[in-house]
Amino acid sequence: MNSDTMQPSIHDPEHASRSPFAADVRIGLNRPQKRLNCKYFYDERGAALFDRICELPEYYLTRTEMQIMSRYREQMAAAIGPRAVLVELGSGSAVKTRLLLESLAAPAAYVPVDIAAEQLEHVARHIAADHPHLDVAPVCADFTRPFRLPQLRYPSARRVLYFPGSTIGNFSPRQAARFLRQLASIAGPGGALLIGVDLDKDPAVLHAAYNDTEGVTAEFNLNILHRINRELGGTFDPNDFRHYAFYNPRHGRVEMHLVSRREQSVQAAGTHFRFRAGESIFTESSYKHDLNAFVSLADAAGFTLTHVWTDPRRWFSVQLYSTASPADPGSVHHAETAER
Ligand code: AVI
Repeated sequence: MNSDTMQPSIHDPEHASRSPFAADVRIGLNRPQKRLNCKYFYDERGAALFDRICELPEYYLTRTEMQIMSRYREQMAAAIGPRAVLVELGSGSAVKTRLLLESLAAPAAYVPVDIAAEQLEHVARHIAADHPHLDVAPVCADFTRPFRLPQLRYPSARRVLYFPGSTIGNFSPRQAARFLRQLASIAGPGGALLIGVDLDKDPAVLHAAYNDTEGVTAEFNLNILHRINRELGGTFDPNDFRHYAFYNPRHGRVEMHLVSRREQSVQAAGTHFRFRAGESIFTESSYKHDLNAFVSLADAAGFTLTHVWTDPRRWFSVQLYSTASPADPGSVHHAETAER
């Protein structure tokens, strides 16, 4: 289906040109290396394409993380303890969260945080129906910016932030460090972070994961141009750009770009942009982390590792961290449950 027909919207050029999206597009496409922020992938069609990516045979991330969650959720729940408030950042369809909620002992509340209001409401309604004694308190917000946690109905033992899916991989090391510091302050003393982190591996596996044979990842990447056309009066012809994804070993990341097939001039967000033939727009980085290096990054942000769960190939990890409790700042229990 065409994105322009999926999300009917009244185009208001005056308002659109002043939106944060428009400002980001103008700034990003004026840089020497043109850039677009990957958070703009996720309009309705982009979210649907991402769900399809998660099902692809080449895209090992979702499947591997699900296997880890299914296998170790009881251990995770035991390590988290009873009466936790589970705050999920970017809840999406919350499939992994359902597994975790079923295992947690008497969770006090579930706080899904997501920018997509409709999906958030849908998830909150379904989880509340399945867990009648749980306080489900959704927050519609961009979790990369400061947001307020809602007042909760029941007293709780600790705040546990849940950040699955290796979304942290889409942050540069500097952004990740800043974001982790922000998470440590939201978790508060005695809090925890349960995070899904994709690990470095054979570049051939990575190349296949971001260049699937069905071309779904290509459509997902190109969808950002459809979105600019629809929401910002853009004149991009997506056929004039091609998807290009590769592993960059120097930076330890998969890079996605959109490469102009010819010299062209495009209008978007009230501005003209020129493209040389072969010039690219850098749309996404997906960092693949070394386990120890990630632990150091989290440590510098105020988190202490307590558990790591991985799959037999060590392709993906789910890591549990805690923040110091005010009564016991020095004591750290380290237990690694990775398969060898
Ligand atoms: C959401 N994020 C972790 C995905 C990733 O693998 O970086 C987004 C994605 N990009 C291309 N395929 C999937």
